Amino acid sequence: MYRIAVLPGDGTGPEVVREGLKVLEAAAQGTGFRYETTHYDFGGDRYLATGEVLPDSGLEELRQFDAIFLGAIGHPDVAPGILEKGILLRLRFDLDQYINLRPVKLYPNVDCPLKDKGPEDIDFVVVRENTEGLYGGMGGFQYKGTPQEVSTQVHLTTRFGAERAVRYAFELTRKRNKMKQLHLVAKTNVLTFVHDTWWRTFNEVGDADYPDIKREYAHVDAACMWFVKNPEWFDVVVVENMFGDIITDLGAMIQGGMGVAAGANINPKGVSMFEPIGGSAPKYTDQDVICPLAAIGAVQMLVAQLGEEEAADRIEQAVIKALESGKIKSLSAGRMGMSTSEVGDFVASLV
Ligand code: IPM
Ligand code: MN
Repeated sequence: MYRIAVLPGDGTGPEVVREGLKVLEAAAQGTGFRYETTHYDFGGDRYLATGEVLPDSGLEELRQFDAIFLGAIGHPDVAPGILEKGILLRLRFDLDQYINLRPVKLYPNVDCPLKDKGPEDIDFVVVRENTEGLYGGMGGFQYKGTPQEVSTQVHLTTRFGAERAVRYAFELTRKRNKMKQLHLVAKTNVLTFVHDTWWRTFNEVGDADYPDIKREYAHVDAACMWFVKNPEWFDVVVVENMFGDIITDLGAMIQGGMGVAAGANINPKGVSMFEPIGGSAPKYTDQDVICPLAAIGAVQMLVAQLGEEEAADRIEQAVIKALESGKIKSLSAGRMGMSTSEVGDFVASLV
């Protein structure tokens, strides 16, 4: 019996989470695993009503689950940073979800903005380090609000943090067994300290333990270019936190947009959290027009992490069949030719 915490969150989060849960139920029935869900209302509305972001007791409860399914965090009436740092980043850090896994896979019949590229060209995974870098939060102000204002934000990098991300990425590359090729994306020509740590870690770990995996390197600016020009060059990419944040939005666009892009915050030995990466999209709230495929993809990753590989596979095949049917006209909000709940029902019926 798996115990799953559900945090629908803000904006369109609850709508897409509902569809994800329909598909979870279909997959459980189809493959015979059992689970129970517990819902939590952390997010902007709760904060505005009570002043509470994520109470310590909530965090301790969440630690006890087998997985967390998150909708979206971000509310137009709350200043930037409060909910993101207080809920999303706090969960990632305090639950030590040190990997942010973001598959970039173009499914059939999905509009791709890249000319002459199809599903055979776009199928890679980004392993984003998820607890360090500029997200570490070290830094501050001096003389704030004066002409002498100084602000710093430290790019925290540890050998330990880089190494565990790099090792995860090498293992994943081996497991995928596709091109057996791992790219490090960084900026070693400018960030000559922090990315030197990454560079040496990548090569030392590769030489010592992964001689079967081909190593490639791209500066982050060049990687942005290659993601667009030659996405077929990539198999697995490992990258530090902030650059990973940026390049995975680019990745989401080449796989058909935020409607389909899912991510997993993984602690291989603890509780992991799964989310559509598109954010709360507040202007579409409660209109039943947002695409739920990203949330469904997050559920696919969730069951895979639980070890329910067959269920994960059935969910992915159901998404592919739904797309191949041609009934879903677009993955853009309001242009699907179906409502959010109809897409969820449709995919669930195919699982
Ligand atoms: C993401 C988001 C978050 C991040 C924000 C909401 C803090 O953009 O999951 O990519 O920067 O990691
Ligand atoms: Mn992001």
